[in-house]
Amino acid sequence: PTPPRRATNSATAWDALRAEAMTCTRCPLHQHATQTVFGEGPLAAPLMFIGEQPGDQEDLAGRPFVGPAGQLFDAALAQAGVDRTQAYVTNAVKHFKYEQRGKRRIHQTPVAGEVQACRWWLDQERGILRPRIIVALGATAARAMLGKAVTISATRGAAIPLEGGAEGWVTVHPSYLLRLPDESRRAEEQARFVADLAMIGDRLR
Ligand code: URA
Repeated sequence: PTPPRRATNSATAWDALRAEAMTCTRCPLHQHATQTVFGEGPLAAPLMFIGEQPGDQEDLAGRPFVGPAGQLFDAALAQAGVDRTQAYVTNAVKHFKYEQRGKRRIHQTPVAGEVQACRWWLDQERGILRPRIIVALGATAARAMLGKAVTISATRGAAIPLEGGAEGWVTVHPSYLLRLPDESRRAEEQARFVADLAMIGDRLR
């Protein structure tokens, strides 16, 4: 009954889970994606972030949040004083869904059935890590975290008790910030995102 043994067990379970996810065919998205992009980070992390799905660069790299949204996410975390290396970062959907337009692969939002199919993996990740706080980035992640469709505006800014005792939080997705055309609006929304992350970081102290 020692912590080291528990840690070993969860590492073994996570390794097996990740390996299994690499050949997932639970929904059709695996057909066109390069690879499964599984979550990453310390298994003892008290904080878990859920994104939507890998983007073009994540699909190629096989790692979550390494493209433009990931860079904004990293910068926001740094500003908020939250250490990304101390958080586990994963996605609601683990294959890149896109539409081919010439040479470009254009992101497509996963539908409810795809989120539901992939929730199996997310629930396993949650079960192995048992983080104290889970943060959903955007509406797709919030749907995956809560098991129902919600709006950001109705759920943002307050802790949501989750099954298993964790505390859930909902905030915007960094890609939403990248898409805002108006610069001052973007700066405002970015500051609000950083404030959300700082408040969540404070809950861990
Ligand atoms: N957007 C996401 O939601 N997840 C990623 O991993 C990258 C971009």
